[in-house]
This record gives sequence, C-alpha cells and structure tokens, in this order.
Amino acid sequence: MQKFSATTPIYYVNAKPHLGHAYTTIIADAVCRWHKLCGEDVHLLTGTDEHGLKIQQFADAEGISPKQFVDKIAPLFRDAWDRLNIDISDFIRTTEERHKIGVQKLLQACYDAGDIEVDVYRGHYCVACEAYYTPEELDTGRCKIHNTQAEYVEEENYFFRLSRYEERLLKWYADHPDAIKPDHRVNEVTGFIKQGLRDFSVSRKTLTWGIKLPWDDSHVAYVWFDALANYITAHGYGTDDKQFADNWPVDYHFIGKDIIRFHCVYWPAMLMSAGLEPPKGWAVGGWLLVGGEKMSKTTGNVVNPLDLIDEIGVDGFRYYVLADTNYGNDGDFSYEGLLSRYNAESRKQFWQFGRARGNSCRKEMWRHRTRAGFN
Ligand code: ME8
Ligand code: MG
Repeated sequence: MQKFSATTPIYYVNAKPHLGHAYTTIIADAVCRWHKLCGEDVHLLTGTDEHGLKIQQFADAEGISPKQFVDKIAPLFRDAWDRLNIDISDFIRTTEERHKIGVQKLLQACYDAGDIEVDVYRGHYCVACEAYYTPEELDTGRCKIHNTQAEYVEEENYFFRLSRYEERLLKWYADHPDAIKPDHRVNEVTGFIKQGLRDFSVSRKTLTWGIKLPWDDSHVAYVWFDALANYITAHGYGTDDKQFADNWPVDYHFIGKDIIRFHCVYWPAMLMSAGLEPPKGWAVGGWLLVGGEKMSKTTGNVVNPLDLIDEIGVDGFRYYVLADTNYGNDGDFSYEGLLSRYNAESRKQFWQFGRARGNSCRKEMWRHRTRAGFN
C-alpha cells in the first residue's frame, strides 16, 4: 500500500492554540485526507514544543514549575485538534521519554561526527523566536517577526558546525529541485545558503529546562535542536529501529514561512551529520495577518479558532481556512471576511441543495441561520 506521511510544526505551549496554528494544521490534515481518499496509508504527526527559555519564563510568571505549566497547556492543543476534526496519527510532546532518548542519540551522533564543538556565543537572542540573530537581521535591535527587543547574550555554548554543510546542502537541493513547495521558496533557501552559513548554538548553559547533552550535563540542548528532532523521535529514532527504518523520511513537513531556515537549512544538515536522510519535502505556508500584522501570541492579536467554530461550525470554519488564502501567500483574517464568505458561499450551496430537495429544508436552513445570528 502506498504511504503518505506528513508533519505539522510542534507548537510552543506558552499559550493556548490560535488561528495561525489551526491554519497550518488544517491544511496538513486536508492534504492527508486527500491521500486517504486515494486509498493510501496515511500518517499525520503533530505535537508540542515544551522546553526552552520562553516556556521557562511563562512558567516563572505564573509561579509554577515549567513541567506543571506545560502539563496544563499541552492538552489544550490536543483538544483543539480533536474539536477541529483533525485526524492525528501521533501527538508528540518534547517532554516525553521517547523524545528525550532520541534527542540525546541525535546529539551524540553529530558530536561523534565531529560537527559539535564548544565555543563562546556573543550576540543577540529573540526569546519569542528562540533564535540567535546578527545585528543586520534585527531592526535597530528589535526582532522583525515579533517587534520585541532581542536580548544580548554572552555564554559558553556548544556549536553545530553548519558552515561545513554549504556545499552538501546546495548539492542536495540541486538534486531535489521539487522538495520545497511553493517553488519560489527554494530560491530563498539556496540564496540564504549561498550567502555563507554560520555555525549555530546547540546548547545553553544558563538554562535548565531542557534535555541534557549526553557528554556534558552542565548544558541543555538548544530548544530548536530538541524540537526539530521530534520528526524522527516520533517515528522511533533511538527507541525503535524498525519503526524508524519503515517510516523515515516523511513526505512533507508543513510549516509557516517564519521557520523555513530552521527546517530547510539547519534540519537537513543535522540529519546529514547523523548519517540520516533529509525529509522528502517541505510545504511552506504564508502568514495569517490581522490588520497587516502576523497573528502571534507575542503580538497579542490572536483569534481563538474554537470561538469561530461555535459560530459557523467545524466544516464552515475548515472550509473558510482552506478557501480564503492562496497557499504559500499571506492572508488577512477579519471577522467580516469570515462571515461574508460564509454567507455568500453557504448560500450558493443552499440554493443548489434547496432546488434539489424542495422548500421545506430551505426554511429549515433559514431558521438555523437566523438563530446563528447571520443575516
Ligand atoms: O515556531 N499565520 O512554534 P509556534 C500562519 N515551536 N501560520 C501561523 C501563524 C500565523 N499568523 N502563527 C503561527 C514554533 N503559525 C516552534 C516550531 S517545529 C520543529 C518547532 C503556524 O508556536 C505556522 O505553521 O511559534 C508557524 O510556522 C507555526 O505556527 C509556529 O508555531
Ligand atoms: Mg512563533
């Protein structure tokens, strides 16, 4: 039987899921359902990203331990996907044992390959992105995605020697020209690689909320190294060799354009270093904007998808998400847009339906719509 395997990002659990998370997850689910209709054996992986400084800070603010904090939020993601009718095959949390074992195995493999070395990091860090930035990548010290001040960091870190992978990555993309969808994103990735790659930190010494490095327990793994590994640890890397051999590489990582560099540059290099194959492909979506700004927990302009399904139903909401934005481009979210599409396009369906089935169901529909507050 033909297989199709996809992943969504594992979302940060600093707050409950918002419409942006639902957007990527619904698209991945819709593509999976198409493959299911074609009779394929489909796997959809999602989960939650639970370590790192950001989560530690949110837990501190509530005066509870990070573990208590993530145990409170992670189930909200699982519930949201249930309510949105997402057909999940596996949900991985980065605080699970199977994940920890796999992350340590991956770290050790890269270390043994000679690609991880200790050094000192001096520079800026955006906690919302959990990313290191050069001054040129910031806007007078502020993160361009979150519009928040990046903090200056100076500490001993282990570094992954990404700079050794420029040629190998460029060759891989030349050999796999269709790996990234939509097509124009390939140029963004190869253009970035051609500018020259900088080594990146794979550990933090001033943080304890994370997975310890197997060879130096005074450091925890950098949250992105930890998070990316979910795609293989969920498929048995480190815990079940047969499962891993049968299921890796997956067909698509569904992601948003904010995390393309981590997924299309860092991640394949990490895999190559460990002697593993890169994924077969990536599907990169644009952003949902609210009033021209990216919807984000940090910006605070978030919409709760579960409020919307209370208003227009799960199918109406899923339809809206899939129909309203051209995949790959940014889209604008507004309640007016949501309602006008719902009214215009459900009416189209209604007339077709009404004509075929006669007047009685038409009235029923109108009654229902009036009750729901539309028209
Ligand atoms: O980045 N429009 O998690 P995250 C469209 N934990 N999609 C959006 C969106 C928006 N306004 N906001 C979020 C992380 N998304 C890491 C990922 S993966 C190994 C680790 C979607 O909670 C989009 O898919 O910030 C984006 O890439 C993802 O949520 C980021 O979610
Ligand atoms: Mg984010």
